[in-house]
Amino acid sequence: MDKSFSSKLIHLGDKFGESVSRSKSIPIVMTSVFSFDDVESLDQVYEGEADGYIYTRNGNPVHDALSEIMASVEEGGAALAYSSGMGAIALSIISQVKSGDHIIAANVLYGGSFQFIKSELARFNVSVTFVDPINEDIAPYFKPETKVVYVETISNPAMEAMDLESIAKTAHCHGAKLIVDNTFATPVICQPLLLGADIVVHSATKYLGGHSDITAGIVVADKETIGQVYTSGLLFGPTMSPFDAWLLIRSLRTLELRVRQHSDNALRLAEYFETNPKINSVYYPGLPSSPTHSVAKRLFHNNLFGGMMSIDLAGGERAAYDLLRNLETIKFVPSLAGVSTSTSYPAKTSHRSLTDDELKKAGISKGLIRISTGLEDINDIIAEFDRTLAKI
Ligand SMILES: Cc1ncc(COP(=O)(O)O)c(C=O)c1O
Repeated sequence: MDKSFSSKLIHLGDKFGESVSRSKSIPIVMTSVFSFDDVESLDQVYEGEADGYIYTRNGNPVHDALSEIMASVEEGGAALAYSSGMGAIALSIISQVKSGDHIIAANVLYGGSFQFIKSELARFNVSVTFVDPINEDIAPYFKPETKVVYVETISNPAMEAMDLESIAKTAHCHGAKLIVDNTFATPVICQPLLLGADIVVHSATKYLGGHSDITAGIVVADKETIGQVYTSGLLFGPTMSPFDAWLLIRSLRTLELRVRQHSDNALRLAEYFETNPKINSVYYPGLPSSPTHSVAKRLFHNNLFGGMMSIDLAGGERAAYDLLRNLETIKFVPSLAGVSTSTSYPAKTSHRSLTDDELKKAGISKGLIRISTGLEDINDIIAEFDRTLAKI
């Protein structure tokens, strides 16, 4: 039976009960290894001649349940779960390149991804060209050895919506694969594989987990590509704990509801910020003033634009520090996507490894604050920002 998006989130992944009754939630298979009656049966599982699990780094039933849900809602052939978003990102890229290859990446990315691509890949003799896919044609940057293009659906922290359809077409024309970090959008808002991307990655620490209590990563792609990522992952080894996989499944059941509410609240908050004279600019793809609003409207589902925005304070660094210090319930938190509204200061948190020049290119000023809109009554959140901005 074909299932709708929300029904997939709620019902998929139940791989466990075989008897007349079964546990309503998925059991946690908290084991690092599985036992066998004899060498022949172990051999059969290794060779794929019998179903079964061997060792949790190779796979675990809770990982498989999680992967079934994620592959389905991201419209991929298969998915893999890792112990952090960076684990997922690193493996998805490493599995696609070899020494001498080149990759093209957006110049506005989560700071850890930027640093990994710039510094770690260089140690494997993989070179990179950072580009501005919003304002320039990326075609001239391809070389015969370009294997990967790497972007975020909504860039962190510029909040620009990438034209994934057009970037995928250009990448494929040059024989490269498109890897998309879909963390800020989630598949509720955008499904990059349907727009031509080859691999989707997530920091599941953010919206997929959604409660600020899991560190996790997800990769989704077609079965062949996932096989390549699996081989790299098995040997680099950032396995997700079965307990975290279980927590993540628990969170995914409510993903659609949460993302709708985060998005509705964020639009209201962004509209309020546009009216406050202490704020120079508001970066949110849901605002008609956003340079990528039309792209977001075309590629995103249901007029949802996510819970993340950035604001540039007219008072610069001093005003930013004062705002962060004086907010009461809205905490300064170097992460995002929990149930409560939080703030971050990219220049000193997610992007602190960038040079001044790189910060400038990424549009990260000293007055820039990133906001993760929570699920509270939005009137309370607007009132708290309004009170605090009036004071600084
Ligand atoms: C967009 C994005 N991708 C990836 C990551 C890295 O994820 P993790 O911290 O789970 O390794 C982050 C972390 O903030 C992020 O914001």
